[in-house]
Amino acid sequence: MIIDGKKLSEKICAQVRAEAEMMRRRPCLAAVLVGEDPASQIYVRNKERDCAKCGIDSRRYDLPDTVPEAELLAIIDELNNDDAVDGILVQLPLPEHISERKVINAVSPEKDVDAFHPINVGRMVTGEGTLMPCTPAGIMAMLREYGISPDGKHCVIVGRSNIVGRPMGLMLLNADATVTYCHRHTKDLAAMTRQADILIVAAGSPRLITGDMVKDGVVVIDVAMNRDPETGKFFGDVCFDEVEKKASFITPVPGGVGPMTRAQLMKNILAAAKERALKNG
Ligand code: GUN
Repeated sequence: MIIDGKKLSEKICAQVRAEAEMMRRRPCLAAVLVGEDPASQIYVRNKERDCAKCGIDSRRYDLPDTVPEAELLAIIDELNNDDAVDGILVQLPLPEHISERKVINAVSPEKDVDAFHPINVGRMVTGEGTLMPCTPAGIMAMLREYGISPDGKHCVIVGRSNIVGRPMGLMLLNADATVTYCHRHTKDLAAMTRQADILIVAAGSPRLITGDMVKDGVVVIDVAMNRDPETGKFFGDVCFDEVEKKASFITPVPGGVGPMTRAQLMKNILAAAKERALKNG
């Protein structure tokens, strides 16, 4: 069965919109884009469109790739103190001369809708988070929707990035799964992936997972977005045609995890706006 992330994301968006419309003031996202990276420009434009669909206002700050780090930090500080702004998102990656860590740490945790700030990472680990990292939280929502419980399952994660792999494992652990992390130093990847009841692949390594690397009945979540430079088409880290034959559930690329990540961002903006409304009256 193919998991339809696009359809589920539309359902979530409609729920966010219904709740946003009940608020006294529309929630508002400030998106900051540094430089002209074409992929980042597309991502930010898509997030603006998602906001419009979900009844959320958005502001966009386009900065040249030469912007000094101090200037970017000053803008973040202004947005932190701007009562009309509920969520702040600085699109990554940033130019070499700017420290991503410094920028992530500068965003106020209550407006950190990417949930990249160490405070929000820590809250997610202990299970008390309200702002959750978008991709793993979107995947958890997909599993729930399709009746796939991680409880007692062996979940194998390929990739250990701060954005996806690492938080994914912790969220699955919090849902009572047994978790194995694999990465580029893993000795025998296939021996690990063959044990997976649920396999999450976020390596950014095109067609890494072949049919012989999974067992029958496996649930496969392919997080990757690899772009064929010749055709411009997107494809995953999983050889879909081979793995689909053995999988009980599998996500397509595109139309699987991507739309769910974006839907979770909308949920986070709404959650941040609600928390702030409660706190500030
Ligand atoms: N770059 C790639 N993925 C992301 C993301 O989820 N958030 C931000 N801010 N930048 C990204």
